[in-house]
This record gives sequence, C-alpha cells and structure tokens, in this order.
Amino acid sequence: MKILVTGGAGFIASNVVDGYVEAGHDVVVIDNLSTGKKENLNKSATFYEMDIRSPELPKIINTEKPDIINHHAAQISVPASVEDPGLDADVNIKGLINLLEASRKSGLKKIIFISSGGAIYGEADNYPTDETYPPNPLSPYAITKLASEHYLYYYHHQWGIDYTILRYSNIYGPRQIPNGEAGVVSIFMNLLMHNKECTLYHFPERPSGMIRDYCFVGDIVEANLLALDHGENEKYNIATGVETATLNLFNVIFDSIKTIKGDLDDGLSNPRRAIARPGDITRSCLIVEKARTGLGWQPTTSLDNGIKATLEWYTKHQ
Ligand SMILES: NC(=O)c1ccc[n+]([C@@H]2O[C@H](COP(=O)([O-])OP(=O)(O)OC[C@H]3O[C@@H](n4cnc5c(N)ncnc54)[C@H](O)[C@@H]3O)[C@@H](O)[C@H]2O)c1
Repeated sequence: MKILVTGGAGFIASNVVDGYVEAGHDVVVIDNLSTGKKENLNKSATFYEMDIRSPELPKIINTEKPDIINHHAAQISVPASVEDPGLDADVNIKGLINLLEASRKSGLKKIIFISSGGAIYGEADNYPTDETYPPNPLSPYAITKLASEHYLYYYHHQWGIDYTILRYSNIYGPRQIPNGEAGVVSIFMNLLMHNKECTLYHFPERPSGMIRDYCFVGDIVEANLLALDHGENEKYNIATGVETATLNLFNVIFDSIKTIKGDLDDGLSNPRRAIARPGDITRSCLIVEKARTGLGWQPTTSLDNGIKATLEWYTKHQ
C-alpha cells in the first residue's frame, strides 16, 4: 500500500513511518521541518520538504497518488495556540483543507487523522471520557482539532473519502523533543539528565499537578497500522485509561534516571511549582474500549516500561 505521511519527520509520525516501512508499505513523507528533524526520516521513505499549506502540495499528491494519507503534521502546542490562534488555525485548518482538496481531486480512498482526546473534551463531566461525550474544547488548538474532525465528516459525505480519527491522549517516547511547551516526559528527562531543576505546573487546588493519560509511542504505531484497514468513518480514543498526576510521572522519571545515573542530586527530587498555563485543563483520562473492539487495538506498555525505553533512547541520543 502507498501511504503519504504528513509530519513524518516529527516525533510520533516518524515512529509511525518506521512501522509502515517495516510492514512493507511504500511511504512518502511531507514535512516542513519546523519541529521535525531530518535524522528522524526513514531512509526508505520518499521525502518532500514542504509546508502542508503550500500551493505545490496538490502536484505531489497527484504525482504520488497515495492509497492512504496519514495526517500528523500540525501546530501542536496549546500555549502557542493561545498566543497566536491565527497561526494555529492557519496550519491546522488551512493545511488540512489544502490536503483534502488535493486529495478529493486525486481520488484518495482514505485519510487517517490525528486528533487530540487529551484536548478536545475539555473539562469533561463524564470522566474518564469516551467518544460519545460531546467535546468542549478549551484552547484554540483543541478547537482546530475538533473542527478538523468536522471537515473529515464533510469530505466523506460530499466526496466519499473515508476517514479514521485517532484521538490521542498524551504521547511520549523516543524522538520527542524537549524544547517545546508540550512533551512533559522529554522536558523532565532532559532537565534531570543535565542536573537541572524541573517545573511542575498545577492548579492551586491540585499541588501534585494535572492528571493525564500517558501512552507510549510504540503502542501508537500499532494503532496507526491497524487504522490502515479498520475503523472506517469512526473516531477512537487512543490512550491507556490510566490516570497519572504530573508529580507521579516526575517521580517515575526521577527514579529511573537515578537508577542509571547514580549521581542525580537529591535536591532535584522536589520540582519547583508554577501555576497552570492558559489552555491547560485539570484532568484528562480516556476510555479506550471502542478502539479495542473497532480497531482490535490495546495499549501494552506500562508507564514504567515506557519511561525506561524512552530513557534508553535519550541516553544514546543526547
Ligand atoms: N504529542 C502528543 O502528546 C500528542 C497528543 C495528541 C495529538 N497529537 C498530534 O500528533 C501529531 C504529531 O505530534 P508530535 O507530538 O509528533 O509533534 P511534532 O512537532 O514532533 O510533529 C509535527 C510534525 O509536523 C511538521 N509540521 C508542522 N507544521 C507543518 C506544516 N505547516 N507543514 C508541514 N509539516 C509541518 C513538523 O515539522 C513535525 O515534523 C500532531 O497532529 C499533534 O497534534 C500529539
């Protein structure tokens, strides 16, 4: 199968590309390298350095004629979307429309779209949250992800392009970059590996931080493989269903690093506190039953094992 992956030089999608190549698929990557890196690119994939908003994009889709598009490229930062909602909408909405317009003209069969279960439900009353809960986005980023889902429904209805929506929770693992505002696992790891103090953001009433559902990127690759031929015109939470407070996450990372480094300063074991940033939500945890039945997917990596695997990668690559 020929699969075009947008954002394939980035953290998650480069892992997905590796999974697709390993499974024998023919993979094409489009990425503007704004946060992605050339060294993440799989050598067997064809690479186009291009913005998804580019007027040149339709030519590539027409030339490559993929069977499936897997759309991961996005403006991914919640704080950045609060700072500049126009840019967020430009990349996440206009970029998607550019892709879908080109796709419908080239006869594309299916698109796999990456949404955010960690963001679109907002402060959900039904918690943990399943896909039937009416989303209530609380940041421009979450709004553009939800709006994108509506565009997919429209393009299916009007132009017959099938879709599968994967609503990720908080994803971590090898290749996540520590220099954004997102990606707390890589941020904590990077700081602690360099013997620097970490900051724990929290709401005043929850000093141990936000509750999140952390899912390992290796499990995400499996979901993207299954979505190639399952789950047409459905949306799925892709997560673990396990709640973790930021402080618990910090402790798991601290202990893992201490085990391998030995010389970690105990003074770093108590992170500095700061008040939650605009756009942050207090808790998010997702029910993944639908993905179990609809995609045949389930998470298999515990937080401890995922953190160990991620740390192994950081130790080799820092
Ligand atoms: N990391 C998470 O926890 C998480 C959670 C939910 C959803 N997601 C979604 O998963 C996807 C991948 O996120 P990630 O964490 O791997 O981030 P990332 O920044 O590592 O990957 C995004 C990739 O898209 C590329 N890109 C950005 N804007 C582009 C543009 N205009 N044109 C072409 N390429 C562009 C970047 O260069 C990068 O390679 C995003 O859609 C994000 O919203 C991520």
